[in-house]
Amino acid sequence: MSKESLKNNTVLHDTASENAGEETKRQFEYMEKVKGHVADLEKELGRKPTACVVTFGCQMNARDSEKLLGVLTKVGFEEVETEDADFVIYNTCTVRDNADQRVFGRLGYVGGIKKKKPWMRIALCGCMMQEQSVIEKIQKSYRHVDLIFGTHNIFKFAELLNTMFESDRMIIDIWKDTDQIVEDLPIVRKYKFKSGINIMFGCNNFCTYCIVPYVRGRERSRSPKDIIREIEYLASDGVKEIMLLGQNVNSYGKGLPENEQLSFAELLSEVCKVDGIERVRFMTSHPKDLSDDLIKVIAENEKVARHIHLPLQSGSDEILKKMNRHYTKESFLLLVNKIKQAIPDVSITTDIIVGFPGETDSDVDETIDVVRKAAFDNAFTFIYSKRTGTPAAGWEQVPESVSKPNFDRLLKVVQETARERASRFTGQTHRVLVEEINEQDSSLVTGRMSNNTLVHFPGDADLIGEFVDVKLNECHGFYYTGERVFE
Ligand code: 5AD
Ligand code: SF4
Repeated sequence: MSKESLKNNTVLHDTASENAGEETKRQFEYMEKVKGHVADLEKELGRKPTACVVTFGCQMNARDSEKLLGVLTKVGFEEVETEDADFVIYNTCTVRDNADQRVFGRLGYVGGIKKKKPWMRIALCGCMMQEQSVIEKIQKSYRHVDLIFGTHNIFKFAELLNTMFESDRMIIDIWKDTDQIVEDLPIVRKYKFKSGINIMFGCNNFCTYCIVPYVRGRERSRSPKDIIREIEYLASDGVKEIMLLGQNVNSYGKGLPENEQLSFAELLSEVCKVDGIERVRFMTSHPKDLSDDLIKVIAENEKVARHIHLPLQSGSDEILKKMNRHYTKESFLLLVNKIKQAIPDVSITTDIIVGFPGETDSDVDETIDVVRKAAFDNAFTFIYSKRTGTPAAGWEQVPESVSKPNFDRLLKVVQETARERASRFTGQTHRVLVEEINEQDSSLVTGRMSNNTLVHFPGDADLIGEFVDVKLNECHGFYYTGERVFE
């Protein structure tokens, strides 16, 4: 296992380890080949070629982007944040239509840059690429794209880069699904002290509005051994906080071989035992699968963050049924109460969709009622976006004249409740992991509490990556200002 520090905040986790699988070894061979192409480009340009990874969407994509950057760095590119780079890759999201539109907007912009830099290469990957209509549109209207691949074959990135360098044509490689999980490829972490970890891929729930099961494929859990091994490595490399990632972490473990059977609650408990890991987060929980065992593990284990993201989507039983969510308003509220009783200092956040097909004003009244009763610490509210290929896309749609006022009315209640909830810690002292220098005021640093709330307080760069105790002096809506306390 080798590692090298790149910049202050990025670390190459480069593990062509002894026990790497065949596919991993193959990809490392391709990385060697691509190195040659990048070196040729370096000679041509008289400087190190640059690469920019642009990420849209969720934490899963953020983690995938770290894998893309791992390969790009390994083959000799220098990471930059601007799209006038020599290689630009867009890691796309398609959960809502506005994410798609933003990608097309960026593609138009970057096409202009490429006209002036003919050696430039542009690539696309991620969820949006799993849609046939998107590929057709790119083939027709965005001919300046060099490489397209999807969510299932991201592990082949090195091989695809090699093909791209050896061809003048647009390379397209999209898989419909896969059961392969390729371990131990290079990763460049954005933060030295915290990291996401995939524990599973895909989703089997088929909520009727959601495109994810179609673009991310069937649910597959990573082996507990591989997960723990990766976390142990991260801990040895300075990571203190990890986030276990999956579309529905509560169904972790289904389909694992008999000798590796483990529930999510058990996995979480094992992860907490890794020395050096001080805080463990997870995302996302489906309310239908959140077990009593999991609540117990969280309650009994100080290392588990006091934050549960529990998407409600709707508070109306009828809409929940049409959404295929498998819970009711009542069972959701019971679950929230159970969690709050067992873990009094927990923060619960949620996602809500407004304007799902057939939704009426009185359905939204039900949702608002849940928001008031559950007293979420925050809620991400979305207007329903029709996704081609999902069942709900074929149903009668709600006009914007109905959904927009309902959205506004919900948002108002969400903001009121969240503001009230957020202030409940005023005057208390909380343990905070310092993440960065404050963007607005460089005499302050920004840290994150266990419950995910941000705190700004006086401090300097030496504190980044450290856990410190901070007194929460004042709540400003969604964040606190405070001061460090020394015992
Ligand atoms: N329209 C609007 N919001 C959606 N989400 C998922 N699919 C859609 C859609 N078609 C929201 C859900 C999910 C979050 C990640 O995105 O609330 O929890
Ligand atoms: Fe989409 Fe539902 Fe799966 Fe979440 S659980 S990814 S909303 S289908």
